Amino acid sequence: MARTALVTGGSRGIGAAISKALKAEGYNVAATYAGNDEAAANFTAETGIATYKWNVADYDESKAGIEKVEAEVGPIDIVVANAGITKDAPFHKMTPEQWHQVIDTNLTGVFNTVHPVWPGMRERKFGRVIVISSINGQKGQFAQVNYAATKAGDLGIVKSLAQEGARAGITANAICPGYIATEMVMAVPEKVRDSIVAQIPAGRLGEPEEIARCVAFLASDDSQFINGSTISANGAQFFS
Ligand code: CAA
Repeated sequence: MARTALVTGGSRGIGAAISKALKAEGYNVAATYAGNDEAAANFTAETGIATYKWNVADYDESKAGIEKVEAEVGPIDIVVANAGITKDAPFHKMTPEQWHQVIDTNLTGVFNTVHPVWPGMRERKFGRVIVISSINGQKGQFAQVNYAATKAGDLGIVKSLAQEGARAGITANAICPGYIATEMVMAVPEKVRDSIVAQIPAGRLGEPEEIARCVAFLASDDSQFINGSTISANGAQFFS
C-alpha cells in the first residue's frame, strides 16, 4: 500500500513543489495551508492533492487536523514540516509580536506537526521526518534574528529526533534551502535581492523543485541510514 505524506504549507512555494514531487513518487499526499482558501482550492483542482486548513502554531488544531488526515488519507509515514513565515526587521526595530509570531509558526509549529504523528511512526516502525530549515539558520541573516533562531532550532530538533527514532526505523533530517525563487524571497526589496543573488556562486536563485527532489530522496527507503543530517541546497552560497 502506498505510504502517506503530510506537507505543511504544502499548497504554495517550496511546499507545493514538495507535495507534487511526492505525489509523482506514488505517495498519498495531504497538504496543509493556513489561510488562502482560493489558492488551496486551485491547487487541489490542479493537482488532485487534498488540502487541509489549520494553523501549525496551534497544537490542538494541528492534532485534530492530523487525526482527520489519518482517517481520510491514511496513517502518516512521512511528515514534511515546511510551513514558515518571515517578519523581517532589524533587531532594534523588531517587536515582541514579530518575535513570537515567527517562533510560534516556524519552531513550535514543527513540534506541533511532528509530535502527533510520532507515536504512530514508532508503532509501525517506519517514519520520515523532514524539516525545511534555511541557510539563514546556518549563517544568520541581517533583519532575521527571529527567523534565524527558528531555523537553527530546526537543526537541533532533527538531531535529537534522529537519536530517539533510529531504533524505531524513523529518520529525521533537515534541508537548508538557500535563496529559492518563491513569493517569500520575491518579497525582499529588489535592490537587496540583487545583492543576495550576487553572493550566490551559482549566479541564480534556486528552484522549488530542486528542494523537492531532496525531500523525495529523504522520504525514500534508500535514505534509511541518513539520520540527523542537514542537506544544504544553496548554490554554494554558504558551507556549514
Ligand atoms: N547587511 C547589512 N546591512 C543591511 C542589510 C544587510 N543584509 N540589509 C539592509 N541593510 C542596511 C541598509 O543598507 C540600511 O542601512 P542605512 O541605514 O545605513 O542606509 C539599513 O540596514 C536598513 O535600515 P532601515 O531602517 O531602512 O530598515 P527597514 O526597517 O526599512 O528594514 C529590511 C528593511 C527589512 C531589513 C529589508 O531591507 C529586508 O527585507 N531585507 C532583507 C532581509 C532578508 O534577507 N530576508 C530574507 C528573506 S528570504 C527568506 O527568509 C527565505 C530563506 O530562508 C532564505
